Amino acid sequence: MATHKLLLLAGDGIGPEVMAEVKRLIDFLQKAGAAKFEVEEGLVGGVCYDAHGVAITDATMDKAHAADAVIFGAVGGPKWDGVAYDVRPEAGLLRLRKELGLFANLRPAVCYPALAEASSLKREVVEGLDIMIVRELTGGVYFGEPKTITDLGNGQKRAIDTQVYDTYEIERIARVAFELARKRRNKLTSSEKRNVMKSGVLWHEVVNQVHQREYKDVTLEHQLADACGMQLVRWPKQFDVIVCDNLFGDMLSDVASMLTGSLGMLPSASLGEVDPKTKKRKAMYEPVHGSAPDIAGKGMANPIAMLASFGMAMRYSFGMNREADLLEAAIAAALGRGLRTADIKSEGAKVVGTREMGDAVLGEMERLAA
Ligand code: IPM
Ligand code: MG
Repeated sequence: MATHKLLLLAGDGIGPEVMAEVKRLIDFLQKAGAAKFEVEEGLVGGVCYDAHGVAITDATMDKAHAADAVIFGAVGGPKWDGVAYDVRPEAGLLRLRKELGLFANLRPAVCYPALAEASSLKREVVEGLDIMIVRELTGGVYFGEPKTITDLGNGQKRAIDTQVYDTYEIERIARVAFELARKRRNKLTSSEKRNVMKSGVLWHEVVNQVHQREYKDVTLEHQLADACGMQLVRWPKQFDVIVCDNLFGDMLSDVASMLTGSLGMLPSASLGEVDPKTKKRKAMYEPVHGSAPDIAGKGMANPIAMLASFGMAMRYSFGMNREADLLEAAIAAALGRGLRTADIKSEGAKVVGTREMGDAVLGEMERLAA
């Protein structure tokens, strides 16, 4: 049996609490003989800043490069609001994404049947929803240069962020999205602002070219990013896969999270290019939710997004599709039993904490596997 090398980076806020449930899942899988894991841990974000004065150390970056998958919790919090921009907690996350070349961010938004009531939208709008947002993750305005604030000397300052995309960056993210669409309902929506932005004009052109050249069998449509946000809350079931740039993907995936009931439900996978020699790809898995400092340390955070992120690692990095299916079924079953963390609570449901939800999911896995 292959041994998978994991680097766990729990980070700040609720990160360590939800990561604790992943550690129990890892133990569970090893005891069941489903896989072997070699587990290392490291610091990232504010806790790393406190210990080392940076958001991630070079030594931890080396471990991330050597790992088969990085499992990431969350970073940030009011404690570090005042720290210098280049060592702020989020810089650790962005460095991991950039230096590992994790250009493809997959954010599935699935509404579990039991949670149709938890969404702020009507049941018929979200029930049975299963969409995938594919966000470009190593380019665009997040990393474009110049990125500066200049003092103009007349009592004014000027801030500049640069939105920049090259053809190859759009091509490779489009291919990831088309491939996913082929395995799903064969429809891709590409989203940009070509009515205002040059990068949107190129994005639209390149996605069309890739479609014509390689994926004519997939239905492609285009939506301006603002309209796409509106359509996501109006009738989200029109979508299958959505592909967009880094910034629009950040926003649209937060919007999509509420269709599933809560930000505490959304997992994500960040993938690099497949190495032609080893056939492996660098990968990091993280929940879409942040560090939630307001509820940190209270044992009430929803561990489902974090657990489901590990599920994506099983699917995309370890070829453990059976176990990933089992985990998803176990999450659905735990929710079906009426258990809810505070973020997804509804009338008549039993509100439980992080640990109890973890217990329930692992218990259901055991039961379903038997
Ligand atoms: C996300 C987060 C990050 C982002 C932050 C924490 C830098 O919001 O993963 O969606 O903006 O990409
Ligand atoms: Mg975000």
